[in-house]
Amino acid sequence: MASFSKIVLASIAALQVVLAGSPKTCSNPTLSCHNTTSIADTCCFNAPGGQLVQTQFWDTSPSTGPSNSWTIHGLWPDHCDGTYDSNCDASRAYTNITSILQSYGKTDLLSDMNTYWVDINGDDESFWEHEWSKHGTCISTFKPSCYTGYTAQEEVPDFFQKTVDLFKTLDSYTALANAGITPSSTETYTSAAILAALKASFGQNPTIQCSSGALDEIWYSFDVLGSVQTGTFQPAAPVGQSSSCSSTGIKYLPKSGGTVTTTTSATKTTTATSTPTGTGSFSGSGYLNAYTGGSQDGCLISAGTWYTTGTCATYTATASGSGFTLKSSKGSCGISSDTFTCASGVTATVFTASNGLLAYNGATTFYATAVPSGSTQATVYTSSQSVSVEFQWQSV
Ligand SMILES: *[C@@H]1O[C@H](CO)[C@@H](O)[C@H](O)[C@H]1NC(C)=O
Ligand SMILES: *[C@@H]1O[C@H](CO)[C@@H](O)[C@H](O)[C@H]1NC(C)=O
Repeated sequence: MASFSKIVLASIAALQVVLAGSPKTCSNPTLSCHNTTSIADTCCFNAPGGQLVQTQFWDTSPSTGPSNSWTIHGLWPDHCDGTYDSNCDASRAYTNITSILQSYGKTDLLSDMNTYWVDINGDDESFWEHEWSKHGTCISTFKPSCYTGYTAQEEVPDFFQKTVDLFKTLDSYTALANAGITPSSTETYTSAAILAALKASFGQNPTIQCSSGALDEIWYSFDVLGSVQTGTFQPAAPVGQSSSCSSTGIKYLPKSGGTVTTTTSATKTTTATSTPTGTGSFSGSGYLNAYTGGSQDGCLISAGTWYTTGTCATYTATASGSGFTLKSSKGSCGISSDTFTCASGVTATVFTASNGLLAYNGATTFYATAVPSGSTQATVYTSSQSVSVEFQWQSV
């Protein structure tokens, strides 16, 4: 039953992808910002925004995203001199990014975006709309005329997918940690040390930005051989950007004003290695990410229901008895009539953790009648149903 509905969903998604057009094939493209003559076809050559910049945030006030990962700001098409265009096509300034991605079956992408492309005010959809309309519409290779058999808005999933894919190759947290640069309320670092750590991983210097003396952005520049959709991204030295960080005394503050948890599993690894590790209790604030068949698929939202396309709710775990209780913005969470619910008036259940997974009466398997999709939320049961699901704590 579970696998049947998954297969049906997968085939619908595959069918929609087939029905979408495809970016024009680019033969023998020219590397952006490296042309010596004018190039008319900007479907296979990025111009005037030839330097594509993958920008990342480290937000600590308030904290956003996992405590051991940077988050996505965007993908910006800078001119080859550091200037840039913005808001290039009002007719494509869409206000339904989530719906467009859903209509193209981009569930995994939305799940990644809900984790890593998060708005500091909690309004992810608006943030995504802003990034798409201000910057995405200026990427020349995303013009509808650059597709064969264009279907409405298909460049939107291409923009968000490419940005997330690039971000996943740019693990700033680990690059810095490998050089001993870790979040701290007391330590300070030099600009040279930060850049050297990032260059060791990226191959080129990125540009770093600071706010009130604390590191809060990294900008990675690329030149592109071919289109953004299908071309090759080559790390490039930034052109015309300036850094707002001083050379010494740079703070790199911890998220959530606290510690970086060790019970959170690696958040950027592939499915095969993202199996939760570590034991112990949950504490502080976190998301409850859903795992079915070994891969992450959505998370719990504030009522305690499972959702695959929305923003994860932040839960608070508080030590109690031999385990901990959970609370969301809706109220305390408890199991009543075999159902996981969070609401005011609910009697808090004492949960435990096993290998980083939520456990009730020692069992980490919960159930739903189906894997939720689109705007459907699934009720989470403790009694057997057709779909098994486990919930992993991710400190935030
Ligand atoms: C590179 O191509 C762009 C787009 O055609 C053009 O505006 C620019 O002048 C070209 N650069 C050189 C050095 O020819
Ligand atoms: C998104 O908005 C555009 C412009 O209003 C509309 O044409 C399109 O049908 C919408 N797409 C979805 C999937 O809702």
